[in-house]
This record gives sequence, C-alpha cells and structure tokens, in this order.
Amino acid sequence: MRVEDFDMFSTLLKQRSGLVLTRDKAYLLESRLMPVARKWNMKGLEELAITVRTRKDEALLRDITEAMTTNESSFFRDQKPFDQFRQLVLPRLMATRAAKRSIRIWSAACSSGQEAYSLAMILNDEAAKLAGWRVEIVGTDISAEMVERSKAGVYTQFEVQRGLPITMLVKHFKQNGDKWQISPQLRQMASFREWNLLGDLSALGQFDIVFCRNVLIYFDGPTKGKVLEGIARQMPQDGVLYLGGAETVLGITDKFKPVDGQRGLYSLGGFSTGP
Ligand SMILES: C[S@@+](CC[C@H](N)C(=O)[O-])C[C@H]1O[C@@H](n2cnc3c(N)ncnc32)[C@H](O)[C@@H]1O
Repeated sequence: MRVEDFDMFSTLLKQRSGLVLTRDKAYLLESRLMPVARKWNMKGLEELAITVRTRKDEALLRDITEAMTTNESSFFRDQKPFDQFRQLVLPRLMATRAAKRSIRIWSAACSSGQEAYSLAMILNDEAAKLAGWRVEIVGTDISAEMVERSKAGVYTQFEVQRGLPITMLVKHFKQNGDKWQISPQLRQMASFREWNLLGDLSALGQFDIVFCRNVLIYFDGPTKGKVLEGIARQMPQDGVLYLGGAETVLGITDKFKPVDGQRGLYSLGGFSTGP
C-alpha cells in the first residue's frame, strides 16, 4: 500500500472511530479493506483510496470504518467483572436505589452482544430479588452489523463454548442447526443501538453501571480521555464503570477514581465497598 494511502485511511479511521493505526499495521488495513474494495467492485486498495478522496460516499466510509473494527468478545469475558457485578455492584446499587427501584446498565461497544447477555443471565438468576424492579440493559456499538448480530442473539458453537457455563447454555439457548439462539426472554431484557462513543452520548440517558471494556485500547490518550469524560456525564456520582483488563483511567482523566480493592472498577467517587 502506498504510504499516502495508508496515511489517508488511518486519518479517516481516527476521525470516524478513534482507531489509531501505526504504519506497522499496514498489513491489517490491506487484509481488512480488500473485501470492502471487492464489495464495491473495485480492483484494489488504490482505487478504493482514489474513490474515498474524490467521492465522500457515506455508505463506503461506513463500510471502511466497520471493516476495521475488532469485534472479539465472549460470554462472561474475564469472569471476575461478572462475579463482582453479581456479588458486589448489583446488591450495593439495589440498596441505594431501593426507593426508585430502577437500574440502567450500558454495555458500551457491545460487539455481538455477549457482554449484555451475560449480564441478562445474571439478572435472570437474581429475578426473585429484583421482582418489582425495572432493570434495563442497553448495548451500543459503532458497527451496524454488530448491533444486528446482538439483536438476533444467534451464536456459533465456538462462541457458546467460550466462557458460557453449560448450565447457562442449556437454560437460555435453543439450538437451531449449527447455531444457538438466546431465549426471547433474555433478548427482551436488552436493547441494542448503533452509537459512536466519539459522538454526543447525552441522548442515551443516565446509566448506573457502564461496561466499556476492550475498546479504549484502540484509541490514543486524548481520545480515551474524551470518551471517558463523555461517559462520566452519563453517570451519577455513585455509578460504576468497568474497563477491560488492559485499560485504566490513570493518567487519562481524573473524573473516575478506582474503587478500593476492586480491579477494573471505577466510580466518580460515590460508590463505596465499605459498610
Ligand atoms: C474488542 S470489541 C469489545 C467487545 C466487548 N466490550 C468485550 O469486551 O468483549 C470492541 C468493539 O468496539 C467497537 N467500537 C470501536 N470503536 C468504537 C466507537 N468509536 N464507538 C463505539 N463502538 C466502537 C467495535 O465495533 C467492537 O465491536
């Protein structure tokens, strides 16, 4: 790929999704953009680059942006955050929200929905305690394809074998050919929308619990800061934010503080694990 084309694509991707690509990742750009060029009946990446420069076709720019997203996810990814959710965060927030009986949870950058449905399975286990509560799970992703996949809740054998306890598979999924679909009951507990974390987040409303995991790693420092500050505006003081294992707020923003003794868990300051 020509250096000027690489620079043009990487600038475009940084602006549209926050993705930072260094020149040693040119191979990634090539392998992921070739199918886009083919889909648009172009001979190769040079023609794709010329078209992007000359014709600002939004559908094409979206295809390019989506093709470059990494959508790796799994049920109960890393396990610990979900144990924390079940044992600490949910009971705490239920205690502090006993009067309004409502909790909103956001799976930001939800990919194909496994994070949102893992939470739905835990909430289903806790259904007796949550009787009379309104608990909403909202999943968002920049990728229209991932949002559609999340809504459908259909997973391959490989996907349901990663992290999902067999008891949960049997309880909540129905096999259809070589795929598994999550039950309508769990699908009803979550809604999914296309949303760019770099954009205005205010229309999504306020969330008590935010999972924003394994997406900030693709951004540079200023973009991470902007996204975290945008998320902070959508949360109450005692809300909690989950980041991925390789992510932190430290050195990025002072809006969030790590929750004592709970790795990967952050709050604006009002969430305490004490008595
Ligand atoms: C590696 S997946 C993480 C999925 C899930 N959160 C997890 O931890 O398993 C990253 C997701 O971030 C999404 N993404 C990338 N840039 C985004 C942006 N600017 N706004 C919203 N979603 C974005 C991608 O489409 C992808 O589905």
